[in-house]
Amino acid sequence: MESIVVRGGLKLSGEVIIDGAKNSALPLIAATLLAENGCSRLDNVPDLRDINTIIRLLEGMGADICRQGGRLEVTTSAVENCQAPYELVKTMRASILVLGPLMARFGKARVSLPGGCAIGARPVNLHIKGLEMMGARISVEHGYIIGQAERLKGADINFDVTTVTGTENLMMAAVLADGVTVLRNAAREPEIVDLAAFLRKMGARIEGDGTHTITITGVEKLLAADYQVMPDRIEAGTFMVAAGISDGDVVIKNAPLAAMGAVVTKLQEIGLLIEPLSPEEEDELHKNDKLLSGVAVRVRRGSAGLRALDVRTMPYPGFPTDMQSQVMVLLALAEGTSVISETIFENRFMHVFELQRMGADIEVEGRTAIVRGVAALSGAPVMASDLRASAGLVLAGLAAEGETVMSRVYHLDRGYAGFEKKLKALGADIRRVEENC
Ligand code: EPZ
Repeated sequence: MESIVVRGGLKLSGEVIIDGAKNSALPLIAATLLAENGCSRLDNVPDLRDINTIIRLLEGMGADICRQGGRLEVTTSAVENCQAPYELVKTMRASILVLGPLMARFGKARVSLPGGCAIGARPVNLHIKGLEMMGARISVEHGYIIGQAERLKGADINFDVTTVTGTENLMMAAVLADGVTVLRNAAREPEIVDLAAFLRKMGARIEGDGTHTITITGVEKLLAADYQVMPDRIEAGTFMVAAGISDGDVVIKNAPLAAMGAVVTKLQEIGLLIEPLSPEEEDELHKNDKLLSGVAVRVRRGSAGLRALDVRTMPYPGFPTDMQSQVMVLLALAEGTSVISETIFENRFMHVFELQRMGADIEVEGRTAIVRGVAALSGAPVMASDLRASAGLVLAGLAAEGETVMSRVYHLDRGYAGFEKKLKALGADIRRVEENC
């Protein structure tokens, strides 16, 4: 296994470009299963372990997928094996996103139950309940979800809990259903709006995406389409924290600022300066870049330093749970005491125990973490537990005195493409090493 070694204390500077969003690319790739014929071309697809996993999943079903750089060409006309095996699903829970498209187009599916992960039980009961309301016959046998339906029927579905992939799965199930489906208490994440836009390009009839009520009118068939994945708002937020925690001065290009309101506001309140570039600066900066849909922002730490602040994770447009570990690391060095409430997942504080070993003063009480700012963190050997925790630990290493060695880097590679290379290009003293077993 590999580790990341980072020596802290260096101020980051320079430019970094944000990749396509993992949590948009995954449902978009699953949605290509809905096309009866043609080749869907997806641009700005990030080079991540999770993307490789869903590619293998679709190829195992019979899809033909070709990858050239950030472009993915997917043809699913020959798909006939409607299965998602445990061996793949256990490595990536988001594999559940093939359930809706398979039920919609083929009327059958055998998908391994994803099971829990480090951050929580992660049930999929609402995915299943919605499909049953659409007329699917669902059984769970030997750890697999077995689904059958002649043709799904439109239904009025009210989510007990706002669920991102639940909303995505049922939106994809409804686009070929007979009649109208209404999803109430639907998730409003920008990645859902990205998926709806792609489905409309395929011929789907969807309204209300981005609001709590989404209405889908089923059609007879969908065709392949082209689409460009939105930039990753969590990667962008992670690099904003990297600039602030290192007391650096970084230009972040291709940031989906319009989708980052809560994150930008919180980071500014803590003391970061986050300023869009002027049009002239932007033109100068991007004249050689095939810039995608984001904007360029300059991020520095303000002269007043870092101030404590309470943070509560919420569904979009609230502060995203996927930025919780990153903002915690920043607050661990802020003046004063902050209270972080994790309202989405029941066990998303695994990074706290590693940060404590680096000298952070953090106390966990259930879903609340009390963070008392300290003057400095100290480098230490730490272990990654999940994707966003691993990003937080690397950020802590950037600010810590001395060397931090983070093991189980595979967690990081699931959601960040070349994270240490991008940080090194910004001046960090960071490298990836093979772990001596
Ligand atoms: C998506 O996960 C993201 N993953 C997660 O990002 C993100 O943290 C999460 O949404 C919340 O924003 C992808 O988009 C691939 P949920 P998802 O269903 O859809 C409960 C990352 O780091 N729930 O919105 O699995 C659930 O237990 C990952 O990129 C049910 O009870 O999350 C949780 O408490 C981590 N029953 C809450 O809803 C269900 O059937 C929100 O979960 C479904 C969910």
